[in-house]
Amino acid sequence: MKRTWTPDSWRAKPLLQAPAYPDAAALTRVEAELRRYPPLVFAGEARKLKAHLAKVADGKSFLLQGGDCAESFAEFTADNIRDTFRVILQMAVVLTFAASVPVVKVGRLAGQFAKPRTQPTERRNGVELPAYRGDIVNGIEFTPEARIPDPQRQIRAYSQSAATLNLLRAFATGGYADLHRVHRWTLGFVSSSPVGEKFRDLANRTTEALAFMEACGIDSNTSPGLRETEFYTSHEALLLGYEEALTRVDSTSGDWYDTSAHMLWVGDRTRDLDSAHIEFLRGICNPVGVKVGPSTRPENLLKLIDILNPRNEAGRLTLITRFGTGKVQEYLPQMIRAVQRAGHKVAWVCDPMHGNTQTSETGYKTRSFDRILGEVRDVFAVHRAEGTYPGGVHFELTGQDVTECLGGAQAITESSLSDRYHTHCDPRLNASQSLELAFMVAETLKAQRGASMPKVAEAS
Ligand code: PEP
Ligand code: CO
Repeated sequence: MKRTWTPDSWRAKPLLQAPAYPDAAALTRVEAELRRYPPLVFAGEARKLKAHLAKVADGKSFLLQGGDCAESFAEFTADNIRDTFRVILQMAVVLTFAASVPVVKVGRLAGQFAKPRTQPTERRNGVELPAYRGDIVNGIEFTPEARIPDPQRQIRAYSQSAATLNLLRAFATGGYADLHRVHRWTLGFVSSSPVGEKFRDLANRTTEALAFMEACGIDSNTSPGLRETEFYTSHEALLLGYEEALTRVDSTSGDWYDTSAHMLWVGDRTRDLDSAHIEFLRGICNPVGVKVGPSTRPENLLKLIDILNPRNEAGRLTLITRFGTGKVQEYLPQMIRAVQRAGHKVAWVCDPMHGNTQTSETGYKTRSFDRILGEVRDVFAVHRAEGTYPGGVHFELTGQDVTECLGGAQAITESSLSDRYHTHCDPRLNASQSLELAFMVAETLKAQRGASMPKVAEAS
């Protein structure tokens, strides 16, 4: 029998990546205050997302998860939220149309503030300071004052998450997400991008499909499904005191839900079997994700799955693999086989970002478009060989025209990285790179689904 779970039972477990708050009483006061604040999401929404993810696990839907590596207080503007939302919607339409598959949209948004760090300190010009751990913990400025963890930042992160979610909900249901409008933006991309020509055919076919539906009487006025969209939020459950404070009993089911986001994931650095983070995640009923990197042993992955999804409920668990281009073949097949043999129902999602980070000669942390696409293709090829379904992709992206990742049609080079390098943590794909990638992933997914899905099943 497993020990009883409570929202604070993680406190008795080994805790990695914990900020060193200098004033424990101030932290306790903030957590007590957060406990009184309203939930940000509802349990019913998390359950709905779980049902969508069950379809992903079953090969019938595709997950598009994306957004900032780290949200920040400084870049909190309506335009930033709108532009990220918009590019995710565009990518989703491209994927839906090309691969004829429903796309579940989940943002790394409205709560993605806390960052795990490989090194606990940062050194610059002989000065050593505590590492920046995300705006919910401390400041990014390289000064001793900024790097002191301040619990009040959790209150600000909560408020920013609430306001972000409010805008996302308005966009999703208020007409902004209308399929015709999203498609018009994409036509704009196709006519202005240097690679647009390559995607013109697909875009034109989408135009025809929309015109055909309209002729049949299916348009934004008659069909809410064209006018509105469902958009979910997610972040890494890293700062457990904050997550605990927002964990509430759902009055409908009597179950515990972390109401800080619809979906929570555990990072590659904090997913040890006996860790505080796994203890916390096992008790909440939201859909949860686990980042799976090269250091994950298949036998440990199976134990982790047993802990996080003991009832083998489809949609509960998403495995987000992140190996790095060139390493997929070495690690993924054995994991897939182990999970398949054990009969676990999971959604397999590819994060091609976190295994492909490099430092440019000019000193910028960056990633190359080709390597990102390369990992997606490698992962899809392995799933095809193993007879399993590549259920989705997980990107760090922004709707802004930043220059943080190399390559793509805009051909961002090492020397142009400094032009608009704004990220607070990892390098993100910009709007144009994201859309270009969506077109390419869509083509791969289409080929894969065409090959692996019998025609009858696709039509049903
Ligand atoms: C992240 O998703 O930002 C992250 C830190 O990922 P990982 O835990 O896979 O390194
Ligand atoms: Co990151």
